[in-house]
Amino acid sequence: VTEVDVESLRPLFAGRLHTDAADTAPSLTDWRRKWTGAALAVAEPDTTADVAAVVRWCRDHSVPIVPQGGNTGLSGGATPDSSGTALVLSLRRLQRVRRIDTVGNTIEVEAGVTLERLQEVAREAGRLFPLSLAAEGSCTIGGNLATNAGGVEVLRYGNARDLCLGIEVVTADGEIWDGLRHLRKDNSGYDLRDLFIGSEGTLGIITAGVLRLFPLPAEQAAAFVAVPSPAAAVALLELAQSRLDASLTAFELMSDVCVRLLVKRVEAARLPLRERSPWYVLLEVSEMQPGARAAEAIERVLQTAIEAGVATDATISDSEARYDAIWAIREEVTEAQAREGPSIKHDISLPISEIADFVRETDAAVDAACPGLQKVTFGHLGDGNLHYNLSPPPVPRDVDAFVALEPRLNRIVHDAVMARGGSISAEHGLGALRRDEAARYKSTVELALLRAVKDALDPQHLLNPSKALP
Ligand code: FAD
Ligand code: MLT
Ligand code: ZN
Repeated sequence: VTEVDVESLRPLFAGRLHTDAADTAPSLTDWRRKWTGAALAVAEPDTTADVAAVVRWCRDHSVPIVPQGGNTGLSGGATPDSSGTALVLSLRRLQRVRRIDTVGNTIEVEAGVTLERLQEVAREAGRLFPLSLAAEGSCTIGGNLATNAGGVEVLRYGNARDLCLGIEVVTADGEIWDGLRHLRKDNSGYDLRDLFIGSEGTLGIITAGVLRLFPLPAEQAAAFVAVPSPAAAVALLELAQSRLDASLTAFELMSDVCVRLLVKRVEAARLPLRERSPWYVLLEVSEMQPGARAAEAIERVLQTAIEAGVATDATISDSEARYDAIWAIREEVTEAQAREGPSIKHDISLPISEIADFVRETDAAVDAACPGLQKVTFGHLGDGNLHYNLSPPPVPRDVDAFVALEPRLNRIVHDAVMARGGSISAEHGLGALRRDEAARYKSTVELALLRAVKDALDPQHLLNPSKALP
């Protein structure tokens, strides 16, 4: 193997090239601190043309590339392996908002723009960019598209794929594909855009995107609702959807274990209800008509729900501060679980009608196999997407023994998901975490098609090798 002189890359592009351990370290460990790798260097080009120059250098020197945005991914997709042969290609410095069109309701931004900044720019133009997730202050639009991120407003507005009209990609060969179409309709051949969205950096580098914008809601309210069981939560969802239709913009579920962890691990966290309940729902209503009363709409639904026994108690936001406080409970769950130590995450989706039985039966199977684990079950019930996450028992704590349970627990949870017609990766992607799990459940036909796509777009297998596809 010939040594690669990474310094020969430096003069070829505008931007930064980090080789010092102190500068590269933050890019070499993931948010969960589950994966740590090594790299030749971390390159931070300034423009799409500079990204292309970096990719061409990698191609010419057979250097693997690990694309990275905000490094908030939960599946290990943005962390290089331990060989130290790869280059981490950070898109963070691609920061321009290129164009906003309030008639066509589109915005064109570069990959490194954070989701939060994109939301702000849209709001300043009187529009809503609805993708919303707890990591929005750090995650980038490039990472959102590369993982086809979901979040808490998918129920109404769809996931990153649904919100994207066009993309710009640097190919494995270092060419720039301008697919920045601002069109709602475009049937002009194979959909390359949709091939790159959700490909987790394994088919091309996303350098910019055209995203859809929506009108800003006139008024929003949120409710935090105690429910006796996941089955009751599903009944509440059915009721809320039939009454509220498109104004129901979020419907989230969480178990009381999540609240217990929040109270233990997040200083300001408080349950906004008088009494604990086994499960809770957070629902949000967004009214588009000025003068419409979002809180009153929620109240009417909850009154019926309480009479029917599918809800037992609730609080509805009556101010922006209360609305934010209700959402903060939901948004802190991931952080609270991270502070509890290592976790075993399952990002599953199911037909919604299967969810209650899935939770009941899988809880029983997990308890039988590994008694005492904390079931930090929460997620986007309105989308049929649960984070069936596990943490070690509070006491006694044997963290190594807990971590060793992962393959066994994956088998229990993922077999149950597949038996019910679900998916083992709803919104976080496969990365390093679920690559082999996903392949295990795919047919040979599907795997062959996926490999043919990879071979065609990245013949040298330099783009995020060994992620997503074995
Ligand atoms: P990174 O973590 O840097 O990268 C993720 C993957 O995309 C990697 O495979 C990487 O190689 C690739 N990649 C990144 N940028 C590019 C690019 N420009 N071109 C090609 N490939 C690229 N996710 C959800 O879907 N819903 C949630 O509700 C949610 N909540 C979260 C809450 C918390 C507290 C945290 C920490 C994470 C959460 N996530 C959630 C996961 C994460 O935020 C998303 O996956 C996000 O889309 C990742 O964006 P990023 O810029 O951080 O990407
Ligand atoms: C969320 O919805 O908050 C994250 O996607 C879930 C997670 O931490 O697993
Ligand atoms: Zn989620």
